[in-house]
Amino acid sequence: MKRMEEMILAKGKVLPGGVLKVGSFLNQQIDTDLLREIGDEVARLYAGAGVTKVLTVEASGISMATAVGMALRVPVVFAKKHKTSNVDGEVYQARVHSFTHNIDYDMLVSRDYLLAEDRVLIVDDFLAVGAALTGMRELVEQAGAECVGAAIAIEKSFQGSSDKMRAEGFRIESMAVIESMDENGIRFRE
Ligand code: G4P
Repeated sequence: MKRMEEMILAKGKVLPGGVLKVGSFLNQQIDTDLLREIGDEVARLYAGAGVTKVLTVEASGISMATAVGMALRVPVVFAKKHKTSNVDGEVYQARVHSFTHNIDYDMLVSRDYLLAEDRVLIVDDFLAVGAALTGMRELVEQAGAECVGAAIAIEKSFQGSSDKMRAEGFRIESMAVIESMDENGIRFRE
């Protein structure tokens, strides 16, 4: 998506360690025009997929997932990273290692919100090493539901996981795919 690439070039900041800071338009302050455009674009791409639910993980995935859910007119479910009083009783659970933050955490979602008959679209703001996406795919599998694919705002393909998943037949649609980035600039996939 051209607009996403333009925003990354205009407002993103490349930090050491392959991290892109996008707090000014995606992660902390949210550009709502951009968000609406992302929702419409993802809805267009997955129009024929029969999506019944959007799944993301807290926290930064929720805004994009909501925009997508509104455009597709389906409910949005987000996995929690900590057990709270909202997630009691029966849950689906997946253990995830965050490479960026070097911690392990559990992703949890109530069994009430993912059903065997669901066709689930996974949405997230970043696809880096793919641990979060793999965890969410596990939750969908535990529910016996179908995962139709993933929609990602910013994919960092140089971190390796995304093309491997595509090669295995998993559909991933990213609004911007960064092939490389460093102090000399950011290069997008054509
Ligand atoms: P993964 O998302 O592919 O699993 O990779 P990783 O384990 O490295 O990502 C861990 C966290 O770091 C995720 O957020 C992810 O969105 C975020 N992240 C990864 N690469 C970047 C980047 O280049 N820039 C920014 N801004 N974030 C990145 P999280 O820990 O789940 O936190 P939250 O913000 O969603 O609460």
